[in-house]
Amino acid sequence: MAKNPPLKKIRFGIVGVGHMGSYHLNVVSTLPTHELVGVFDAKLDYAKDKAELFNTEAFETYDALLQNVDALTIAVPTHLHYEYAKKALERGIHVLVEKPITLDIAQAEELIALAKNKNCILQVGHVERFNGAVMALGKIVTEPLLIQARRLNPYSGRIVDAGVVLDLLIHDIDIAVNLVKRPLVKHSAFGSAITGKHEDIAVIELQFEGGCIATLTASRLSQYKERAMTITQKNNYLILNYGTQEIEIHRQGNSVTVTAPDEIKYSQESIVERVFIHKDNPLKSEHEHFYKCITGEEKPMVSGASDLATLKIALESVKQILGNS
Ligand SMILES: NC(=O)c1ccc[n+]([C@@H]2O[C@H](COP(=O)([O-])OP(=O)(O)OC[C@H]3O[C@@H](n4cnc5c(N)ncnc54)[C@H](O)[C@@H]3O)[C@@H](O)[C@H]2O)c1
Repeated sequence: MAKNPPLKKIRFGIVGVGHMGSYHLNVVSTLPTHELVGVFDAKLDYAKDKAELFNTEAFETYDALLQNVDALTIAVPTHLHYEYAKKALERGIHVLVEKPITLDIAQAEELIALAKNKNCILQVGHVERFNGAVMALGKIVTEPLLIQARRLNPYSGRIVDAGVVLDLLIHDIDIAVNLVKRPLVKHSAFGSAITGKHEDIAVIELQFEGGCIATLTASRLSQYKERAMTITQKNNYLILNYGTQEIEIHRQGNSVTVTAPDEIKYSQESIVERVFIHKDNPLKSEHEHFYKCITGEEKPMVSGASDLATLKIALESVKQILGNS
């Protein structure tokens, strides 16, 4: 019997092994397609502890790590994404950079052009795109009329170089933009900066060509974690729970009010369908897609142009919010 060809392993590194970098380590160390070569972090002792835990090496410099990898994840604070990604791409190394790609449009454009020029894959870590429910959404949503999202977190104080728009809300901007696939015609953003100079609470309203409206809310000051999106279409209403990766489809919604002499009764009915969803770890799916883009088995799910559109909306929202607060 013919043997399967040996798996082509990619030599992989992780830069920044804090909160998000540790999740990447956790996933990459389990992938049969990846050889985890090592990590780099400004806090060397910390990097050594993580490396020991995952049976890999802690490199003392970024350059040393770059000399040994084909691809890497960049999970350092956002203001450092540009310099770290640029250095890697210049050497022809494929980059999976955490979201947001950069804090600046010109820098994002430069990285996208550089990746193209060097024939490298540059993927932005919009992990929610790989949420099973979000992947299913793409097949169900054909004509969205109204998109509403709520993304709430308790305060953590971890992200200090960006506000809640670039930290949390950007996920929902990314999903809304990629669902509607129409140009934006109106955009307003409100918010407040309570703990420091960046906004902690934000509400943005987007209107797309064709009329679809999105209202996206995020807070990192709520004593509750919630990740939900609802979508109104002409013939159905969808409720998506990012946490449980579930979608409910409500159809033939009907409300009846019966008025009798002693009471008024209100009832609401609809047919509810629970969509079967293939659930997996979204970060694992993100890495598998990145790998398949590198090997040419898949085309990048989302284009650089779409990443830029998302970042532009996010940055314009921050400008409106901080200008108004
Ligand atoms: N995709 C998601 O859902 C998601 C979630 C959380 C964070 N993020 C993104 O991940 C990035 C990191 O966020 P985090 O929450 O992990 O932050 P973090 O502070 O927990 O981790 C950042 C790590 O980078 C290291 N670091 C700092 N400066 C460095 C430098 N100059 N060189 C090398 N290493 C350096 C720190 O020591 C730390 O270990 C941010 O861009 C953030 O937006 C994405």
